[in-house]
This record gives sequence, C-alpha cells and structure tokens, in this order.
Amino acid sequence: MTTLVTGGAGYVGSHCVVALHAAGRDVVILDDFSNAKRSVVDALRSLTGCQLDVVEGDASDRITIARLFGTYDIDSIIHFAAYKSVPESVAEPLRYYRNNVTSTLSLAEAALERGVSRFVLSSSAVVYGTVAELPITEEIRLLPESPYGATKHMCERILVDASAVSDMQSVLLRYFNPVGGHSSGRLGESPLGEPQNLVPVVMQVANGMRPRLEIFGDDYDTPDGSAIRDYVHVMDLAEGHVAALDADLGRHRSRAFNLGTGVGTSVHEVVRSASEVTQRNIAFDVVARRPGDLAESWADCSRAAAELRWRARRDLKQMLADHWRFLRSHPSGLP
Ligand code: UD1
Repeated sequence: MTTLVTGGAGYVGSHCVVALHAAGRDVVILDDFSNAKRSVVDALRSLTGCQLDVVEGDASDRITIARLFGTYDIDSIIHFAAYKSVPESVAEPLRYYRNNVTSTLSLAEAALERGVSRFVLSSSAVVYGTVAELPITEEIRLLPESPYGATKHMCERILVDASAVSDMQSVLLRYFNPVGGHSSGRLGESPLGEPQNLVPVVMQVANGMRPRLEIFGDDYDTPDGSAIRDYVHVMDLAEGHVAALDADLGRHRSRAFNLGTGVGTSVHEVVRSASEVTQRNIAFDVVARRPGDLAESWADCSRAAAELRWRARRDLKQMLADHWRFLRSHPSGLP
C-alpha cells in the first residue's frame, strides 16, 4: 500500500516524506516543481537512503492522476500541492482558485473512484480569519479573509462532502506557523523567491544576508506590543500527518485538527530567542503594521492530542536552532 504525497518536494511536504519513511510507509511523490527545487528530491533520497518514486506533474491533471493510480496501489493521499501566499492570492485570485481548488477536486474524484480510504489535506489556520477568542478551537466559524484562505476553506468542504457519501475518511490539518527544518541540517525551507515570513527573515539578518528586520507594528494590544503567533516545528507538523493517516476517527467521516504548540510567542520574543540561539545581534526597526495582520493567533491543540494522539514536542529554541543549522550550510537554500 502506497501513500500519494502531492507537493512532496515542498517545505512541509518534504519533511513529511521523511516522517513517513521513518514510519515505514511506501510513498510516491507528485510535484510540478513550480515552487520547489529538484535538489530537494536528492536530499530526501540521501536522508532516507531510499530511491523515492517521484512523478513530475500537476496535481489537478486527471490523466497524470489516473496514471499514478494505474502504477501504484494507492490507499491514502496527503495533499500539500498548493499556492500559499496571502498577498499573491489577493493580486491573482483566479489563479489561486483554479490551482488549489481543482487539484483537490481532481484528487478527490480519483480517490472515490479508486476506493482510497484516507485523504489528509494540508490546510491552514488562515481559514479562521480574524478570531475574537483565544485559543482558537476547530469549532469556531470559518471566515477566511483572503482568496488563499477561501481556497483552503473550499478544499476542506469538498473533502467533507466527498467523505459524507463514500468510504473515504478525510483529515483536515490546520497549521499554525511552521518553522525550522530537519535536525540533520540537510533539509529545510528552500524558497524560490525572497522569504517574507518572520523566522526566515530574522535568520537572514542574523546571517548578515539582510541589514535589519522590520517589525510590523509594536502597538498591538499584547504584553510587549508586538504580534503573537503559534510557531510549530516543521518535523512536529510532519509527524502530525503520519498520525492523521493512522488515527481512528471513530464515527467521524471527516475531522479537522489544529496543529500548533498551543503557545503564543511575540515578534520581540522570537527576535530575542533567535539572538541567543545564533549568538548574533539582530538589528531591527519598528515600522507600520502589515495590512491584514492579526494581533494574536494561537491554537487549542487538545483535539489533536486526544484523537490523533499527537502533540508538538519541539520548542521555539529547537525550531530556531534547526532553521539556523540549515541556513548556515545552505544560505540560498538547496542548490
Ligand atoms: C503568514 C501567512 C499565513 C501562513 C503563515 C505561515 C499572511 C497574512 N499570512 O502568517 O497564511 O500560513 O505565514 O507560512 O501572509 N513579521 C514582522 N516582520 C517581518 C515578517 C513578519 O514583524 O519581516 C511579523 C508579522 O507581522 C506577524 C509575525 O511576524 O505578526 C509572523 O509573520 P509571518 O511569519 O509572515 O506569519 P503570519 O503572518 O502569521
């Protein structure tokens, strides 16, 4: 039995492939390499010591999917392949709807035809939108504010409805803020463009690749005025997917889970920790708030703990240390 991993060369997807291999699973990767480097596959082969099967193609292409099902005995799908930038989705909404929604639709159709038993979706806390009460539980109403968030909401809904009329169970994993890399330092985030997220930017400043960090606002109603997020180690996230494949969902046909640590950390706290971990000074300026940013976001992860028997085990220091180790040996990501 094989697990089809779409987007398996991407950031979270590649770390998930390592975790699946460690759990003894057979995997085939489908990736179009539109936002991933081919060298990620070499790193995965060397880390796992295994000749991973990789198919280059588009996850919405029904012919490619049919060929995969013809070649492999696929009983589960983990679907990562998607566009994931909020501002880009505002500028090019239709490109986001077409890519993210049609890939989920094509895969779900094939999954039902072929009797796939479990479909795990890479979703995001972005589906919640602005939240009044913290921590965020899976039960609150989903009010995504960007086209990107709307696509994830639609993908979740497609799978909920597909599972309601089939034997396929769906697991919707809503990530908070993924950070870090594999502890070997041989796999991490290798973005094709300039990073925009906080930790990659902070680490580039520590490594002398950028002169200063811009902190987007420190006049929020939080203890130190800077915004608070729930940063979670990418290997913990990866292990959450393995748990999602194996978990007994009981009477549920589909189930959503938050994957975070349940701990909120401010931007100033990240900067201080990064400075300790790297032993470098991290120069910063406080500038205006970034439009669309929330003051605070962190997860209630009790459902994942109870039902997936999954809990994040790695703390912020380890996230930053692992990110730093990879950056030191691969300043521009993998070649
Ligand atoms: C962003 C995405 C979200 C995605 C997540 C993880 C947006 C609005 N949201 O979330 O969809 O799931 O990344 O990839 O793009 N910050 C600075 N200076 C910087 C960069 C960030 O002060 O140079 C601050 C931000 O204002 C925010 C915090 O750091 O308060 C975290 O930012 P970021 O890493 O971009 O994550 P999110 O905005 O939470």
